[in-house]
Amino acid sequence: MKFYCELKKVVDDSYDIEIGRDLAETLINDIKGGLCGKIKKFAIVTDSTVEPLYVRNIFARLINEGYDTNVFVIPEGEKSKTRAMKEFVEDSMLEKGYRRDCCIIAIGGGVVSDLAGFVAGTYGRGVPFINYATTLLSAADASVGGKTAVDTPLATNLIGLFNQPKKVYIDIDTWKTLPERQLSSGLAETIKHACIADEELFSYLEANIEKILTNDKEACEYIAEHNCSVKYKVVMKDERESGLREVLNLGHTVGRAIETVSDYNLLHGEAVAIGLVAEARLGEKYGFISHENVQRVINLCVRAKLPVNIPPYIDRNALIRKLYTDKKVRDGKLRMVFQKEIGDVMCFGDNDYAKQITEPEIAQVIFEM
Ligand code: GLY
Repeated sequence: MKFYCELKKVVDDSYDIEIGRDLAETLINDIKGGLCGKIKKFAIVTDSTVEPLYVRNIFARLINEGYDTNVFVIPEGEKSKTRAMKEFVEDSMLEKGYRRDCCIIAIGGGVVSDLAGFVAGTYGRGVPFINYATTLLSAADASVGGKTAVDTPLATNLIGLFNQPKKVYIDIDTWKTLPERQLSSGLAETIKHACIADEELFSYLEANIEKILTNDKEACEYIAEHNCSVKYKVVMKDERESGLREVLNLGHTVGRAIETVSDYNLLHGEAVAIGLVAEARLGEKYGFISHENVQRVINLCVRAKLPVNIPPYIDRNALIRKLYTDKKVRDGKLRMVFQKEIGDVMCFGDNDYAKQITEPEIAQVIFEM
């Protein structure tokens, strides 16, 4: 005997991304207005830096409105993005009596949203979550698109799931408390978006990059909107990265590897900047980008106070070995995304945006840097 268990699904995971200033009030009003249905219990996941700055206000407002809320704080930094920290948050929530009728609110940067979104995807087999982004890096990339994950000792983001939030809040006001190094790190993902899809954004950055580092209101609003626009349009076309979404990986083949080999001494965006330069230099060898445009990418990263060379303490051979932990690797072969000049990407076939490369080709670039 055999049965056919038919489970075809039509899923609507659509959500709003709201960009603005001081969005705490908006968040509370949305919750009161039914953003999470009838849920009355909230778990705020945040980090030790963001908690005193932005979480206390939101926590107090939720309590004031009668919502049962607790705050779960992880130490700031990429080293918190682990399976152990996920377990810590889960166990703490279990201990506080959280069951399936709850919602997680991630308030923070990329580490918080990646970890909290992953917790939400598996807690009680899945509870809703909301992203409230407080860093440029999260606003530019992590908070939108539903990629959630933790790192492992081998490499970053290897264990996770696609899990879309109920809503994303990008609170530009919070950038004023970011140290310059964090702003620069977020700018690397912004430069990446400009390289792959938005020549106008690239020119805008060339004209205004210093303004973002000094938190100019108009410049920050401009890049918040343009980042978001590049990101969500790619995600809408290919949520699960079966093709096009790989373009968001520009700079990340080398970037993620160097981030791990640096033992997270390099911030994510710093590692991505080095990756953008390495991959542009290889792209130049293939004829995908002119020497002049590679120099524009390098100059922009330098002006954004991002590194453009591989630091001396990085073991080049370890870095080359680490490239093979990349999720784009197919049949043991390295694959890489390439920008086509500025504002476009190379396409290598039907829905194929990554080119197979050889180890000696990328090794040569790495040893030159
Ligand atoms: N951070 C790359 C992506 O969301 O696909």
